[in-house]
Amino acid sequence: MPKASLVVLISGSGSNLQAIIDAIQNDELDAEIKAVISNQATAFGLARATQANINTHVIDHKQFPDRESFDQAMIEIIDPLKPDLVVLAGFMRILSNDFIEHYLHRLINIHPSLLPKYKGLNTHQLAIDNHDSIHGASVHYVSYELDSGPVVIQAEVAVLATDNAETLASRVLKQEHKIYPMVIKMVAEGRLTFDKERLNLDNKHLTKPLIWKDNQLST
Ligand code: GRF
Repeated sequence: MPKASLVVLISGSGSNLQAIIDAIQNDELDAEIKAVISNQATAFGLARATQANINTHVIDHKQFPDRESFDQAMIEIIDPLKPDLVVLAGFMRILSNDFIEHYLHRLINIHPSLLPKYKGLNTHQLAIDNHDSIHGASVHYVSYELDSGPVVIQAEVAVLATDNAETLASRVLKQEHKIYPMVIKMVAEGRLTFDKERLNLDNKHLTKPLIWKDNQLST
């Protein structure tokens, strides 16, 4: 089976990008990252990409008059690469409907909460403030509303009485690094598709997210 080709969009540290690079380099994931695009010139993820010999592009959103023209500039970089998946990995810009429509069914995101809880920012603090006992992260296909679209895998992480937003974020992030390559692998192997607004895994409709907990995946 051919490799899945990916374009990864980042804005910052790029630790999820690193997890994907590592999975490829360790032969756990048969995929190729065609390019990494950042809207921030200082994003550390760009150095991670360069270190792995991946082409990088900086497209500074501040240089564009509006969201649509910034997104169009990204499309012009991405389209010639014909990616199977456009992977949002800590990309901190809201995407235009045009961009989402253009890559619908091949655009995925990772969000640090158990969606549909806590869309947007400050998810870890919100989980603590609301006395949640379980928090986590979700990998989902992107649809038009912010942080929405069908969820493939959720990693569940226990919230400890001693947690603050930073300690909780760091435990959630470790699990993000497990579940993001897992979902990409399912796509690369042709096991997972998103079609007609439905997720299909191994020829069955996936009607609720798979749960990753205690290093095990379950339905
Ligand atoms: C992660 O928590 C991800 O869920 C969120 O932004 C953060 C990115 O971290 N969307 P990194 O840049 O991958 O280290």
